[in-house]
Amino acid sequence: MPDFDFRALRRFPDVEAPNLQAWDATDELLVRWALGPGVPGDEVAVIGDEYGAITLALADAGMSGIRVHQDLVTGRRALAHNAAALGVSGWTSHEFGADLLAGARLVLLQLPKALAELEEIADAVARWAEPDATLVAGGRVKHMTLAQNEVLARRFGVVQPQRAERKSRLIVASEPLAVPTEPPFPVRQVHDGLTLCAFGGAFAGARLDIGTRVLLDAMRELSLPVVRPQVVDLGCGTGALAAAFALSHPDAVVIATDRSASAVRSARETMAANGIEGRVQVTLDDAGSELPDASADLVLLNPPFHLGASVHEGAGQRLIQAAARLLKPGGEVWTVFNSHLDHRRALSRDVGATEQVTRTPKFTVTRSVRRS
Ligand SMILES: C[S@@+](CC[C@H](N)C(=O)[O-])C[C@H]1O[C@@H](n2cnc3c(N)ncnc32)[C@H](O)[C@@H]1O
Repeated sequence: MPDFDFRALRRFPDVEAPNLQAWDATDELLVRWALGPGVPGDEVAVIGDEYGAITLALADAGMSGIRVHQDLVTGRRALAHNAAALGVSGWTSHEFGADLLAGARLVLLQLPKALAELEEIADAVARWAEPDATLVAGGRVKHMTLAQNEVLARRFGVVQPQRAERKSRLIVASEPLAVPTEPPFPVRQVHDGLTLCAFGGAFAGARLDIGTRVLLDAMRELSLPVVRPQVVDLGCGTGALAAAFALSHPDAVVIATDRSASAVRSARETMAANGIEGRVQVTLDDAGSELPDASADLVLLNPPFHLGASVHEGAGQRLIQAAARLLKPGGEVWTVFNSHLDHRRALSRDVGATEQVTRTPKFTVTRSVRRS
C-alpha cells in the first residue's frame, strides 16, 4: 500500500470536530483491494467516497480515469478541496447512472446507511457496469447487517464477506445477475393527495416521516402577510414540505434545496408527480449557500438529527444559521425537531423570537421571526 497520508484530508465544508475524521479503515481496505489486481483506473468506479479518501489515494498511487459518484454536495466540495490542497488529479465526477458505470469492471463502495440505497446501487452495477464487474462494498462492522448481504445477493450470483480488519469489513459481490427491465427506483406513495417520490438515498423513502407530518399539520395555521411569498424548504428530502406548501399557496415562489443528489432527484420527481414542477425550483446545495441573504419570507425546516453524539447537533445548527441568513427581517422559519433537542435556544439566538406552535410526545414545532 503506497503511503498516502489520509490524515491530510479534511471534511470541510462539512461539520468538522476533533472526534470526526475524513476517512476510516474501510477506505484503506478498499484502496488496498483496488491496487491489488492491477485494474486500470478507467475501469474503476467509486461510489460513496465521503470526503475523497478512496479516490485521492488511488489517484495518488498513479491511477487515472477513475469515475466517482458522491451523493452529498458537501462531499463533492470536500473532494475538490482536498484534491487541490494535495495537488492530486486523475478522476472525474459523475451523477448516479449509466455514465458512471458503463465500462466499469471494479466498483468500490462505502456501504450506505439505507438498504434502499444499497439496493439501488447493486441494481445499477448489475445493470450498467461490465458483465464481469465486481462490486466491493465496505463498512464498519458495527454498522453492517446480514440484510446487506441479502440485498447484494438479489443482483449478484456470488457474495463473499471478507475477514474483518481494524473493525471494518469488505463484501465482494461478483457475477452480476440479469436485472428487470425497469430500475427499482424511484418509488412512489400517495399521502392525502400528496404524491412523494423517492430514489434510494432519500430520507424516509416515499413515506411521510412523522416529524414532517407534524410540521405539515401545524402549517395549516401558517399565514403570511405578503403576496407572492418567497419560500425555501431547507433540506427538502423528497420535497414533502415544498410540495404541500406550493399546492396550498399557488402564488408562492418556492425553492426546495438539499445537499443530497438523491434527495434532489426525488424532490424533482415529487414536483412532477404533483404537477408543480414549473412552480418549485429544486437545487443541490449546501445549506442554501447559493441563495441570496435576506431573500426569503418563509423557511420550512425539518433539520437532520441524530441521537446521542452532541456533535451531530451541529448539522441542525448549520441549517438554523442558514435560515437566519436567508430570511428577510420579519420573515419566519417554521421548524420541527425531536423534543429532546434544544434547537429552540439556537433558533432564538440565531434567528429571533421563537414560540412553540405545537408539541406532540415526540416532536416540537416552533415559529421564529427574523429580527431586524
Ligand atoms: C430530516 S430530513 C427532512 C427532509 C424533508 N424536509 C422532510 O421534512 O421530509 C433532513 C434533510 O436535510 C438534508 N440536509 C442535511 N444537511 C444539509 C445541508 N448542510 N444542506 C442541505 N441539506 C441538508 C438531508 O439531506 C435531509 O434530506
